[in-house]
Amino acid sequence: MASHVAGALVSLLLLQLAVTSHGVRRILASEATAAVPPSITSPELRTGYHFQPSKNWMNGPMYYRGLYHLFYQYNPNGPAWDHSVVWGHSVSLDLVNWMTLEPAISPSIDSDKFGCWSGSATILPDDTPMIVYTGINRIQGNNTFYQVQNVAYPKNASDPLLREWVKPSYNPIISPEADLNATQFRDPTTAWQGPDGLWRLLVGNEKGQEGRALVYRSSNRKEWRRAEEPLHSAMTAMWECPDFFPVADAGSEDGLDVTSSRDAAKHVLKSSLPFMWNDCYTIGTYDAGTDKYVPDDPSGDYNRRRYDYGTFYASKTFYDPAKKRRVLWGWVNESDTATADAAKGWAGIQSIPRKVWLDAGGKQLVQWPVEEVESLRVNQTTVSEVVVKHGKHIEIEMYEACQADVEVVFEIPCLNKAEPFDPSFSNDAEKLCNVKGADVGGGVGPFGLWVLASSDLEERTAVFFRVFRAYDGKPVLLMCSDTTRSSLSTDLYKPRVAGYVDADNIADGKISLRTLIDRSVIESFGAGGKTCILSRVYPTIATGRDAHLFVFNNGEEDIKIKHLTAWEMNNAHSTDQ
Ligand SMILES: *[C@@H]1O[C@H](CO)[C@@H](O)[C@H](O)[C@H]1NC(C)=O
Ligand SMILES: *[C@@H]1O[C@H](CO)[C@@H](O)[C@H](O)[C@H]1NC(C)=O
Ligand SMILES: *[C@@H]1O[C@H](CO)[C@@H](O)[C@H](O)[C@H]1NC(C)=O
Ligand SMILES: *[C@@H]1O[C@H](CO)[C@@H](O)[C@H](O)[C@H]1NC(C)=O
Ligand SMILES: *[C@@H]1O[C@H](CO)[C@@H](O)[C@H](O)[C@H]1NC(C)=O
Repeated sequence: MASHVAGALVSLLLLQLAVTSHGVRRILASEATAAVPPSITSPELRTGYHFQPSKNWMNGPMYYRGLYHLFYQYNPNGPAWDHSVVWGHSVSLDLVNWMTLEPAISPSIDSDKFGCWSGSATILPDDTPMIVYTGINRIQGNNTFYQVQNVAYPKNASDPLLREWVKPSYNPIISPEADLNATQFRDPTTAWQGPDGLWRLLVGNEKGQEGRALVYRSSNRKEWRRAEEPLHSAMTAMWECPDFFPVADAGSEDGLDVTSSRDAAKHVLKSSLPFMWNDCYTIGTYDAGTDKYVPDDPSGDYNRRRYDYGTFYASKTFYDPAKKRRVLWGWVNESDTATADAAKGWAGIQSIPRKVWLDAGGKQLVQWPVEEVESLRVNQTTVSEVVVKHGKHIEIEMYEACQADVEVVFEIPCLNKAEPFDPSFSNDAEKLCNVKGADVGGGVGPFGLWVLASSDLEERTAVFFRVFRAYDGKPVLLMCSDTTRSSLSTDLYKPRVAGYVDADNIADGKISLRTLIDRSVIESFGAGGKTCILSRVYPTIATGRDAHLFVFNNGEEDIKIKHLTAWEMNNAHSTDQ
């Protein structure tokens, strides 16, 4: 590895996550040593190609000179969150296979003594990286913790592994001003330079019930001053892990670096909403002169588009100059209990890295697994032009379906039988999916995949679509992941989660779905990546070779599998240095 790395060039990005005090309490709430079912601790449920450290609790990722660097919140002491979190550090040449290094940043100075929380990396004009991260400090003499922003630079920028980071003595570089809530002040973004040459970065904050992205400016990256007005704010409560980046014109899949910020027509502002554990974004216009951002759709801050309607939080993007793309990565929590996590010895994975770009319509982002993931595909199965009749299901024969990549295009011959859409569900796809789960018959749909299913179907997770018809005659397309039957184990979080898919996608009578299955992960991309849903499940029977894949149709209208290809997925390599 070292020789590959030495030859490599890079650029880097990085990431982070923070947990609110609320989240911390939830996780630390001591749970009695209730019996943990052995199925939960089974190595069969440990992911094969989704990134996770060998043990313990993690979240968060970056890229520099030919190497992808993943930084993540990592607790060296156990699979739960506490004040010892450090920045774990792994590197990769391909975003698929990883080598874990020593933690990059650990508590060592007054201003991060009680935790090194999320932050971001910035590649400076001289091609060296800078990390700005939130440190937890404590008021002398009492137990009040507060948040500041610190900077770290590589000790030796010629070391492509960037193993050691130094924290200059002038830290912290940003402390909360007296008018700010110092416990709601975190997760600095990647920095960019404005037309006036000053550097800018954003810090997440809450004022009353308002989530805010504060703007800080600096000429020397040591002294930072807050702009009078936030970049943007909304009455959503705290914004964690803000992410702000330019996108290329609608329909172009190219990514843009933040250095193009002043010229890009459109920007994306993402915030992570604690309490809801949602990552929501708007698309809008950034004025580089005033440092104000205005969403195109003013209701977008409330009627939220989410990167993912399942388990996906504290995500961050980075620009990958090697492939001119922007890559999004989210932290994925477990859906079992903290007790089970303690018994397993690990908790938290990363989603598959996803390329993101602005959809041709300009109203939403599109996400797609980075192409490198396809290098793991083996044992291909193909099914074409097969009709799945009302109430029927068919099995897709695979050697082993517990670790797979499935791409399918469904054809709906006719939408006449679509159920009427009740507009009271307009802003709540999840509620609709809870009323109309995978087993509730319908007109057009529910149809889709049963994944990680036992042969007798006692265990199965449904990833499916259902088509409704609105009063104006337009189709409304719902995409759901129904995990209520995913496991015989009780004591698991088994939700139904859902999002709408822009209905112009079914104009031609076709709907596509791609699902990445990885033992306890089901990561789905509807309509070419317009709506995404990640679920965590813990089957007891449907593991290893006992996990099966089916296509089902519980709607009255027959559905055709136009084309389906399923691959088994090899394990990714993961080594410790
Ligand atoms: C801790 O000290 C600060 C500064 O003196 C004070 O504002 C705060 O109220 C104190 N907190 C507690 C819990 O005593
Ligand atoms: C910096 O890293 C380069 C490349 O690994 C190495 O050749 C050099 O000796 C290092 N310099 C120091 C001062 O450690
Ligand atoms: C700061 O935020 C916390 C968490 O929302 C809240 O409990 C606290 O009351 C806030 N403090 C002030 C001074 O607004
Ligand atoms: C992560 O999942 C565990 C287990 O379901 C839960 O106890 C915890 O609250 C979750 N943490 C966050 C930050 O969502
Ligand atoms: C592919 O299928 C063959 C049997 O046809 C099996 O031996 C092999 O293990 C499978 N490969 C994977 C990665 O599952």
